[in-house]
Parts: sequence; structure tokens; C-alpha cells
Amino acid sequence: QNLEGKTAFVTGGASGIGLGIAKALLGAGMRVVIADIRDDHLAAATAELAGGASVLAVKLDVTNREQFAAAADAAEAVFGRIHLLVNNAGVGLVGPTDLATFSDWDWVNGVNVGGAINGVVTILPRILAHGEGGHIVCTASMSALVPVGGTTIYSAGKAYVTSMMECMRPEFEPRGVICSAFCPGAVQSNIAESGKTRPAELADTGYAEADKRRQASGSLTHLFQTKEEVGERVLQGILNDELYILTHHEFLEGVRERGEATTLAVQDHLPENPEYKATFAMLFRNPAI
Ligand code: NAI
Repeated sequence: QNLEGKTAFVTGGASGIGLGIAKALLGAGMRVVIADIRDDHLAAATAELAGGASVLAVKLDVTNREQFAAAADAAEAVFGRIHLLVNNAGVGLVGPTDLATFSDWDWVNGVNVGGAINGVVTILPRILAHGEGGHIVCTASMSALVPVGGTTIYSAGKAYVTSMMECMRPEFEPRGVICSAFCPGAVQSNIAESGKTRPAELADTGYAEADKRRQASGSLTHLFQTKEEVGERVLQGILNDELYILTHHEFLEGVRERGEATTLAVQDHLPENPEYKATFAMLFRNPAI
């Protein structure tokens, strides 16, 4: 499809992966709104993108529904109709699940899950209303598909947004809106600074000590993909209408094992009922297959 001249709204678009996606979309001729909670990221990203009149930087906390609507209004006032929503804003928190406080759960889910919900509720009706078709991408994570110990809060939220896209895909494809779950492996970004935007009322954390240990354990970031690499990958995924936009081949075995484990759980333990099979086959058909 031709993205030229169309408008993209990218949350968390002023840093890391979101900025890489914004770059790629600009390169494809789109007009791009970068919506982000951090003023310093917005200023630096505007300079890095050098997109002139094709870039609109908007301050947005994705957990704030009124702000989200106002940001979408601002985007439409400047660029007109929105065609592509990238629910990408996210924060990272890892550590033993038994140490997590309610605030740890609420903060991460508020941004990573609640922010994506707010994006869909705010912008999907606007895309459907103009009738020109569009696309929604949620930045999930490879950890939504391959279990990683010690990442329960984060990965469960990423599985949520992956499932959102899987469920919405067959629902909205007939109405011209394609949904994609973007599940990257490790990417160079500023996600280690997530705590800087953590709200004071959710400051109570069980992970203070775990965080100190992790910071002391060194870094492998030089092995991570760059934001430009994954940005181009997302653009290709959008152009190809991919349901699962993946980046890292090294997770192949993990993805396969999970698929085989769930297949065997059905095959080996459940009696086959031909009548149910015929009825439900259509309902449960994975649209990716
Ligand atoms: P990043 O920290 O470089 O970029 C995230 C941006 O989101 C930042 O500019 C931040 O200010 C913004 N943000 C945070 N909370 C926000 C809020 N409430 N409202 C609006 N903006 C907010 O981090 P990165 O890594 O680029 O993260 C982007 C997405 O990619 C996240 O959803 C993250 O979970 C996901 N991801 C990252 C991976 C990685 O290895 N870096 C791997 C898999 C997924």
C-alpha cells in the first residue's frame, strides 16, 4: 500500500524504537506525530528527525485519556486524518515476581497495557470514521511469545497487547484496518531510564535492590539491534500487512517450542469431537495462517 502523504501517530515516538519507527515512516513519505511524555526526548528527536513540516512533536502521557484525545485532535488539526497508530510507549521493569508491589504492577500495566488501550479507544474510531483504511501496530516484545523468567509483569502486559492485535485483526480487516503485533528482541534504547517518568503516587517498589544488582552486572547493549534496523523492519511489516512483526531470528527455537507445547497439550490430552471441530474451526482460525 502507499503510505505517501498519510499520517502516523507514534506514542513513545521520541526515543529508541519509536524514534526508529518514526524515521522509517518519514522515509516512506508519511507525516509523523511523535507523542511522548519526556520534553527532553521530544526536543532531541525533533532535531534528529529533521523532518520539518512533516513532523509534529506532541507532549503526551499515554495513561491520561483527556491528553490522548487532545493530542489526537492536535494531530488532526495539523495533518488531517490519522491512518496509522503505533502504540509504542512503554516502560521496563524486571525482577523476581514475589518482590513486586501493587505499585510495580500498576505502573507498568498502566503505561504498557493501559496506554495501548487508550490509543485504540481514542484513535480507532477516527480511522474507521474517515473510511480510507489504516493500520494499528502495538509494540509488544518477543517476551510475549517466549517466556523469560523474572519478567512477569512486563511480559504479561506485552502478551496482552499481542492478544489485542490478534483479536482485532479479523474483526477490523474487513473494515480496512490492519492490526499488527510488533515483537522485538533486544534493541538499543533508553528503556533503562524508565524510572524517570514513574509517577510519585506509584513510587513504592519492591525492586530497588534488584535494580542495583542489575546495574552492576554490566551491559550487552552493543549486541542489540539499532532503532533504525527495527524501524525499517516495522515499515516492511506494515507494507506486507504482517500480523506478527518479528526482528530476532535467535528466538526461533523458543517460538517453535511454545507452539509445539500448546499443540501437544491439545493433541495428547483431549478427545476429538468432530461436531465441535467443524463448528469452532472457523471461529478460532488464526488469521495469520
Ligand atoms: P525508550 O525508553 O528509548 O523509549 C520509550 C519512550 O516512551 C520514551 O521516549 C519515553 O519517554 C516514552 N514514554 C514512557 N512512558 C510514557 C508515557 N506514559 N506516555 C508517553 N510516552 C511515554 O525505550 P524503547 O526500548 O524504545 O521502548 C519502546 C517500546 O519497545 C516499549 O513498549 C518497550 O516495552 C518495547 N520493547 C523494547 C525492547 C528493547 O530491547 N529496547 C524490546 C522489546 C520491546
